[in-house]
Amino acid sequence: MERWSSGAGFILAAIGSAVGIGNIWRFPAVLGGNGGGAYLIPYLIAVFFCALPLMIFELALGRHFQGTIVSAFRSVRHPFRVFGWMICGIVFLILSYYLVIAGWTLGYFFFALSGERISFADFSAGWLPVVLFAVTALATGIVVSGGVRKGIERMSTLLIPVSVGTLIILALYCTTLPGFSRGMDFLFTPDFTVLGSPLLWGAAFGQAFFSLSVGMGILLTYGAYADREQAIPAASLIITVADLGVALLSGIVIFPIVFSFGLAPAAGAELAFTTLPQAFAVMPGGRVIAAAFFLVLFFAALTSAISMLEMSVAALRESFLWSRRRSAAVLTAAVLATGLPSALSYSAADLRFDGIPVLDFLDETIGTLGLPVAAIFLAIVFTWFFSPTRDLLAREIGNGLARIIYPLCTYIIPAVLIMTTAARMASGVDYPGLRNLPGSEFIGPLLQIEGIVIIILLLLAASVVACRLGRCPLAGRLRTWRRRGNS
Ligand code: TRP
Repeated sequence: MERWSSGAGFILAAIGSAVGIGNIWRFPAVLGGNGGGAYLIPYLIAVFFCALPLMIFELALGRHFQGTIVSAFRSVRHPFRVFGWMICGIVFLILSYYLVIAGWTLGYFFFALSGERISFADFSAGWLPVVLFAVTALATGIVVSGGVRKGIERMSTLLIPVSVGTLIILALYCTTLPGFSRGMDFLFTPDFTVLGSPLLWGAAFGQAFFSLSVGMGILLTYGAYADREQAIPAASLIITVADLGVALLSGIVIFPIVFSFGLAPAAGAELAFTTLPQAFAVMPGGRVIAAAFFLVLFFAALTSAISMLEMSVAALRESFLWSRRRSAAVLTAAVLATGLPSALSYSAADLRFDGIPVLDFLDETIGTLGLPVAAIFLAIVFTWFFSPTRDLLAREIGNGLARIIYPLCTYIIPAVLIMTTAARMASGVDYPGLRNLPGSEFIGPLLQIEGIVIIILLLLAASVVACRLGRCPLAGRLRTWRRRGNS
């Protein structure tokens, strides 16, 4: 098993996974759409009472099982490995369109550098976004094939400090803008009257889990590379606070700009690609600021994409005994093929599924519903179907904490996830922040549910095939091992 070179390396890599488009683009957009500070209370509760405990749980499982989501599920019951592959499939599909958005941020970085102004519609209509998607996917694949230390960890250790430093400088600059105090009021004034809305809570929980990359087996994979001396609860707290800090920091950058230049805070997806560029075009030093902003967004997206790819690369290596290079190459090729329809859906090809751009369709089915489905599976399978979890948790994180985390993951977190997901489905309305891609076309709950059911069935079928194939090399290895007299 590969290992992180140090505790700091592990924490930075996990921060790299957590900090992404979700923090810098989606968080301000969702917050703006939900009336600003009103959203903060449910968000903080979701982060500290649900996402953080589940993060500790997932990292502890990873270190205990020393494997991937597939082998961890297999240790519970042999056939459960199918669910492990299914979750890999969910993350892989999310990755396929996440890379497209990451490519957009790279494009906007280049435009900012060259000083050229381009509307989002003109930009996305061309072929450049498709090329940038491919470039981003290849970059992700190359880093992952470099390995845990030399690829993932090195990349995060480099990019995370640069990104956070740049964001801090941008935030300092924004304190000088005339709209600074209005921006801060908007961001930080809580509103207790809206707390009765289940949809607000649904939006907050969705955002918390997405932003912290929790419940998807990614942290389980990263936890397996951590050594025994690593204190998991402390590391989880650092990762969570860093992720929250970056989200707030980007709010501190974005809202003063929005209010200083008379823009709409509730602009959704437009916020990053349409609204902000209007301000960048007229503010002093706007070109540099725009370039810095989009570069940070791209770096953050890249380290998140790396974590999504690593999870499946690790699973393939483990089950098929492939080399890291081979797994990374095969999966990069696969993600290029899978993401192409999403990339083309915004281009001149205008690829649609049932009248909806493919990217929006994927985001509103697998992106929005796949995440709670995976997190519910993860929490329930390891608590309800696996009695040793209680003890192994006590060994990994200490008995006192295990006493709190275990019941949370057994009852509270699955219940909360089921309730918030059901509320958003039952409401049948469009609500800001219920979708990962703020501003995409609303497709309605019926199509959402139909879509996710079909996708999950397809993933399950693919997983069963993967398990059948996976059995042969593993069985072969076992035979050789026995032959060598180890049995
Ligand atoms: N957390 C990342 C962000 O904020 C995105 C991300 C990384 C993610 N890994 C994930 C989202 C797994 C869903 C599933 O942008």
